[in-house]
Amino acid sequence: MSENVLFNQGQAISSKYDFSKTYLSAELFKKKNGSGPEPSANQPELITLSDGNEIPLIGFGTYTLTGGSGVNTMMQALSTGYRALDSAVNYENEGAVGEVIRRSSLKREDLFITSKLPGRHQKFDEAITTIQESLFRMHLDYFDLYLIHWPNPLENHYVEAWQALIEAQKMGLIRSIGVSNFLPEHLERLEKETGVLPVVNQIELHPYWSQPEQRKFDKEHGIFTQAWSPLGRANAVLHDEIIKKIAETHHKSIAQVILRWELQLGVGVIPKSSSTKRQFENLDLFNFELSDEEISSISALDKPDGRTNSQNPAVYQEF
Ligand SMILES: NC(=O)c1ccc[n+]([C@@H]2O[C@H](COP(=O)([O-])OP(=O)(O)OC[C@H]3O[C@@H](n4cnc5c(N)ncnc54)[C@H](OP(=O)(O)O)[C@@H]3O)[C@@H](O)[C@H]2O)c1
Repeated sequence: MSENVLFNQGQAISSKYDFSKTYLSAELFKKKNGSGPEPSANQPELITLSDGNEIPLIGFGTYTLTGGSGVNTMMQALSTGYRALDSAVNYENEGAVGEVIRRSSLKREDLFITSKLPGRHQKFDEAITTIQESLFRMHLDYFDLYLIHWPNPLENHYVEAWQALIEAQKMGLIRSIGVSNFLPEHLERLEKETGVLPVVNQIELHPYWSQPEQRKFDKEHGIFTQAWSPLGRANAVLHDEIIKKIAETHHKSIAQVILRWELQLGVGVIPKSSSTKRQFENLDLFNFELSDEEISSISALDKPDGRTNSQNPAVYQEF
């Protein structure tokens, strides 16, 4: 970890929250633990979206990270090497993300901040106000990426919400506009009714739910697929025997093999971890490669009922 990412190390802050933690860089982690990640683990790779903006291939999931402990965990994630933080109005942590941005010594342009529009504010005017409120909570002038969190097709307001994101982009409030949990039918409707396609579709994706058709559709339409719950929220997939064997061959963990499989499928990942060790582990993905055969055998683990929480975007609604 280069020295330009040190965050108030050990500094005692007069606050009711404990922000006095030391955030470990790769060097400090190694020193403290005897061994640790290679420096290559700390290079966030970027790819270019179809609107010309860049996005880190690996971001940091922030669901459940709230309040003072959430701030500490996210500060550690930045120190570990993450540059992209994936938030949402419904995670109730935009304030914590804003605090992390303020406290970090990183420049705004070196960070990639995402938030998401909740289902209850999909009407045009409400969506614009909600985006502004998200920015005010984070004390930001713009988001790198803003997504419609769920299509909520039974409500039938997602096209209006999309028009609001297009407008907010024109207003300079958002650099890249995208969606989450959108099926081909929803994306086709956006294109037909607005002429504008999202540049990102963030969807549930892990070895037990690998979404080949959705990935193919996204790719054909220049949409970057980003995996949410890329580790299946630490469910049975982290104990899968087939992945375990592949992991042993590469001297990597099962989680690393899963994340590497996702990257080799051309999918971005946003794993969440509260543990410093696992944060490093989830970034350390660029010093091994899975063979075509290994990729196929992991992809073959896909299950018809593999979703973690049975949230089918055709019918599931979230507000
Ligand atoms: N758009 C959407 O609708 C949507 C829905 C869900 C999630 N998301 C986003 O996607 C992010 C990631 O998804 P997620 O948080 O649901 O699940 P996830 O990242 O797949 O899994 C997180 C779980 O895995 C554990 N873990 C992390 N790294 C590990 C490793 N190397 N080895 C073993 N266990 C590990 C974590 O425990 P520890 O913390 O103890 O390490 C935690 O319990 C979210 O945080 C959120 O930002 C978006």
